[in-house]
Amino acid sequence: MSEFFLLASDPEAVQNLSIFDPVSPPAESIRSLSALVAGIAAFIFIIVEGVLFYSVVRFRARGPRTSEPPQVYGSKAIEVAWTSAPALVVFILVLVVTRTLWDVNRPNPPSKPQDHALFITVIGHQWWWEYVYESYDGRKLDLITANEMHMPASTEGVARPVYLTLKSADVCHSFWVPRLGGKTDLIPGHPNEMWFQTDKPGLYLGQCAEYCGTQHANMLLRVTVDEPAEFDRWLEQEAEPAAVPANSAVEEGQTAFLAQSCVNCHRVRGTRAVGTFGPDLTHLMGRQTLASGMIANDPENLRKWLTDPQQVKLGCLMPAFGLSTRELHEIVAYLSTLR
Ligand code: CUA
Repeated sequence: MSEFFLLASDPEAVQNLSIFDPVSPPAESIRSLSALVAGIAAFIFIIVEGVLFYSVVRFRARGPRTSEPPQVYGSKAIEVAWTSAPALVVFILVLVVTRTLWDVNRPNPPSKPQDHALFITVIGHQWWWEYVYESYDGRKLDLITANEMHMPASTEGVARPVYLTLKSADVCHSFWVPRLGGKTDLIPGHPNEMWFQTDKPGLYLGQCAEYCGTQHANMLLRVTVDEPAEFDRWLEQEAEPAAVPANSAVEEGQTAFLAQSCVNCHRVRGTRAVGTFGPDLTHLMGRQTLASGMIANDPENLRKWLTDPQQVKLGCLMPAFGLSTRELHEIVAYLSTLR
């Protein structure tokens, strides 16, 4: 677990969401392309405005007009110049954009295992993210988590890229972690792909970047880049089935949880909660936040969430279940053990 904690609502988050501070090759390609295009546009702007202001001042009417200014209509030389100059600019832009498209495109077929590469299928839901870890370092994985993605850093001179296959369970969403890569849409029935890698461990924030309904603005992304050894530990932990109740109080909590309709939507691996509609809760306490990055994951917020999710995230698809104080207490106690 990274000790770095930041909610998207914290003021420092703005810095973390900056496109001007890329840490991954695709994000760097996009930043340098933007800088080049802005530079070319600024250059043209200065030339055109310069000529305009010069002409306004230099050729301003002074005294009564005595003759027509010289007419250049139909001048072949000028027409050739103002046709070829923009065509040249457009041609240069096509070349650099093509190069950037080439850079950000995923270089490998999605299904092929590859040394040190991590393959994840990302599924967009209203309004949270599901991560299905497919394989890492040529090894098949069987692991599903939600909202907080982990990946290894490309440290010690070894590239550890992550290849994402992007899908949607409902409407269009868009995966955007500005410092790692550009926006890529998650479209129902049309898988998309993207990749990135970074040698800088840390927490990277992002947003869903395609309007997808009421809570689009709270469909927040968190990508934690771990040191490789730490990532291995995280994988190992996440691959374990859920913690078995260690005492009778927790056991009562588990019974209360399994008796509720929680099990229709949520999965806790190793129990009979096998729902797939909501986030996987097997290692809920391994996550720093609740409600897709909105609030910190602590017992108080968890209780608030279970009391009435609509008070926290209006319109979200989890209803309030009218739990009694006792049930609430028991279920929070149980969920708090799912490390
Ligand atoms: Cu999902 Cu906007």
